[in-house]
Amino acid sequence: MNILVIGGAGYIGSHVVKALLQHGDSVTVYDNLSTGCRENVFPECGFIEADILDERRLRAAMLTNGRPVDAVIHLAALKAAGESMLEPERYAEHNIAGTIKILNAMTGADVPRLVFSSSAAVYGEPRYLPIDEAHPTEPTNFYGATKLEIEHLLRWYSHLRELRYAALRYFNAAGYDPDGEIRGLERNPANLLPIIMEVAIGKRSNLQVFGDDYDTADGTGVRDYVHVTDLATAHVTALERIAEHNTDLVLNLGTECGVSVREMYELARTVAERTIPVEVAPRRAGDPAKLVASSAAAREVLGWQPRYSDPETLIRTAWRAYAASGAKSASK
Ligand code: WQD
Repeated sequence: MNILVIGGAGYIGSHVVKALLQHGDSVTVYDNLSTGCRENVFPECGFIEADILDERRLRAAMLTNGRPVDAVIHLAALKAAGESMLEPERYAEHNIAGTIKILNAMTGADVPRLVFSSSAAVYGEPRYLPIDEAHPTEPTNFYGATKLEIEHLLRWYSHLRELRYAALRYFNAAGYDPDGEIRGLERNPANLLPIIMEVAIGKRSNLQVFGDDYDTADGTGVRDYVHVTDLATAHVTALERIAEHNTDLVLNLGTECGVSVREMYELARTVAERTIPVEVAPRRAGDPAKLVASSAAAREVLGWQPRYSDPETLIRTAWRAYAASGAKSASK
């Protein structure tokens, strides 16, 4: 297929592009490089440096040689949950208004299908675990609310315009390309594993553990970490599925295994052979004690089986990318 990957230079996007290329698809990356890296755009891809708020560029990107692309994969978004509570206008503009522009450019050009990066943040405080797709959706941060709003729009565009979609609700994406080919790292990461890695390479002095008095086995927060390459594979399969079955999908992508903050940094110490100093800090507002996905639906519908999402592989692949970047900056 001819696929336009919006946000394809970003952390998850670049891994999705790699999976599509391996699958034999033709890919054009559309990215404003605000958080993405030029070096993560594979040379065999077309590249459009533009913003999703730019309707003219979006409309042009929907066509290759005058014909509509076969699908769009949309991963371009602001994604820091804490920041979304302080800057709702920016999140509304980029995430919601930006997606509306994408949808309208798609229907205007008769692009028939979309894979959309949604999030476990649509659920909010868990009522039960593991969280399945039928769990109530009551986001506790504005970031999650923007993703839910877009899922509602997708339902309407599917109904009114026959736009077929897959909304993939990621749990905690982590790890790096196991082949070591994707090297551009996230700038100013706010998530646990990249922060641990930045401590390991000496870019930060310590890891702040946000609370060690939760009702969990070791008192630290528990999350469902899923390898970014496993996420990427799910995009390829989800796209095939909606194309072949002319259907829509809303699926969790997680591993059904909970890993604590403490388990993560202790394993990282072993893998990286670095001290990784930690300091216990107060709980972060809005953090639930434990979040674990049910991925039964992705397993059944897509035959999806995470391959790289065990904590050791997550950390090894991340460490490989970060150790290489540490060596690069040390040699400058
Ligand atoms: C993981 C655990 C923290 C940083 C976020 C978004 C969510 C989704 C995934 C995109 C928690 C603890 C973290 C640190 C810490 N994003 N932690 N010290 O909050 O589960 O989910 O990313 O869709 O919408 O909210 O991920 O990586 O920030 O935190 O102790 O410096 O690590 O308290 O228990 P989170 P995270």
